[in-house]
Amino acid sequence: MITPLPHWYLLGAGNMGTLAAWYLTRAGHTVTVIKAGSPASLEKTLLLPEGKSVTLTIPVVAPEAIPASIDYLLVAVKTPYSRAALAPLNTRLHDASQVIRLQNGLGALDGLLPDNLTVLEAVSTSAVKGQHPHHQIVAENHTWIGGKANPPAWLAALQAHWPNLQWADDIHTPQWQKLMANAVINPLTAIYDVPNGQIVDDPELRKRAEEICTEADHVLQALDPAWPAASLENVLAVARATAGNTSSMRADRQRGAITEIDAINGWIVKQANRLGLEVPENQAVMDALKR
Ligand SMILES: NC(=O)c1ccc[n+]([C@@H]2O[C@H](COP(=O)([O-])OP(=O)(O)OC[C@H]3O[C@@H](n4cnc5c(N)ncnc54)[C@H](OP(=O)(O)O)[C@@H]3O)[C@@H](O)[C@H]2O)c1
Repeated sequence: MITPLPHWYLLGAGNMGTLAAWYLTRAGHTVTVIKAGSPASLEKTLLLPEGKSVTLTIPVVAPEAIPASIDYLLVAVKTPYSRAALAPLNTRLHDASQVIRLQNGLGALDGLLPDNLTVLEAVSTSAVKGQHPHHQIVAENHTWIGGKANPPAWLAALQAHWPNLQWADDIHTPQWQKLMANAVINPLTAIYDVPNGQIVDDPELRKRAEEICTEADHVLQALDPAWPAASLENVLAVARATAGNTSSMRADRQRGAITEIDAINGWIVKQANRLGLEVPENQAVMDALKR
């Protein structure tokens, strides 16, 4: 018997959501965006790294018109919008629903989904920029999916269409590596309103980067003694490799939007408080960005 390919409901048809929709539809999956007050479909253009542009037409459904049961849900809204986006869906999710969280930071869906539901966590080092309806793939790197589950049946076939997609039995390693880069680069570039490379070049930022990194590494090591707690080199390498880029938090701040600080440094501060550890630099950047 042939198992039908998943039909995904997509929360967040922005940069990341559009990229995911493109890969999923290439693999024969179908995608419907959940969005209130939108037209019946979204027309998107996605500029690929080789310079070619593709057009995607993605159907849209309003939250109140979603059928009784959602089997596959992909969450790609920015973290502060998770609660509002998920609120209308709770009664449609069931124990066997597959939910993928494709967001930076950690903990953004905690307490927002029915108990017993398994969430697969996705971490991507790819980069997409733009504004609806035009999106551009800036870098097509790696995406890891993992969680407290076995690899889903559809994953192997999807890998042929989603570049560098891999299953991670231990998702927290790529997740924490990405968290460390985000925790240092995002708040500092947002507060000082500078491109990523300044973290390496400016002595004041470099010093603050080291402090944020050391504190966060201690917290992660307290959570998992196997964590090597030597993230600075990797973080600085990311800052160098993306030297001219504007981080997403800097961009959010420039346009007056709420940032993902709560899911990034906020998550580190929360863990530190629970463990009785001091993280003054993480607390300071969080306070500065919440002002
Ligand atoms: N972009 C990247 O390169 C990248 C890379 C790695 C990870 N990420 C992570 O991926 C996540 C998404 O980032 P992004 O860059 O794709 O953000 P984005 O471009 O701002 O897209 C977010 C989308 O969510 C929609 N949205 C907001 N509230 C909603 C709601 N209540 N219901 C339905 N849709 C809603 C927004 O629609 P409106 O604009 O109409 O409000 C927007 O289309 C973030 O956690 C980010 O850190 C992004």
